[in-house]
Amino acid sequence: MSHYFDSNQASASDRRTVEVMLHDVAFSYETDRGVFSHGELDSGTAVLLQEAPPPPSHGVLVDLGCGAGPIALTLGLRSPEAHIVAVDTNDRARQLTATNARRVNVDITTMHPDEVPDALRVDLIWSNPPIRIGKTALHDMLQVWLDRLTEQGEAYLVVQRHLGADSLHDWLTQHGWNVARVSSRKGFRLLHVQR
Ligand SMILES: C[S@@+](CC[C@H](N)C(=O)[O-])C[C@H]1O[C@@H](n2cnc3c(N)ncnc32)[C@H](O)[C@@H]1O
Repeated sequence: MSHYFDSNQASASDRRTVEVMLHDVAFSYETDRGVFSHGELDSGTAVLLQEAPPPPSHGVLVDLGCGAGPIALTLGLRSPEAHIVAVDTNDRARQLTATNARRVNVDITTMHPDEVPDALRVDLIWSNPPIRIGKTALHDMLQVWLDRLTEQGEAYLVVQRHLGADSLHDWLTQHGWNVARVSSRKGFRLLHVQR
């Protein structure tokens, strides 16, 4: 059985267009089978896009676990001068994000986690993280990416309450991060993480 986070998707393609309308930007993007949230904008992602404060206008802004790219696309539309990086282990997800970036006319660099240069420093991370890869893998992934934050860097993570948002909050705090719950809506917590 294949999961949305597997790197190679064997399932036949079935493109479906999703419309996103936020208070400041609107766009449509393609989703596909084998990529997270086929045919719809995930409710947690919607909470992040609606509730996170405006991203900085410049710097390196990362969509960690980009899927079809709705977070990266929103970052690109809100901060057209910034360098947007969309990362995913799933090949089809990265391809879809690249296609969607051309469709929406924003500049997005897609990368597999193994392709990320060691020297990359990040000003902002927005993520609907892959909880289903398991706690250890999730924690390892977050540790690597949070360590890439600049001194003033920030991360916004949206996590479903019943999938362990509060235990992730505790884990981050125990590992020395300053964490604040900025929103709790529709069963999702939006966590703000800083050094
Ligand atoms: C919950 S989905 C969110 C997708 C998309 N951002 C959205 O909001 O629709 C999490 C994504 O993380 C990806 N992922 C899994 N493990 C990863 C890792 N180690 N590094 C980066 N992305 C990963 C999955 O393939 C999946 O696309």
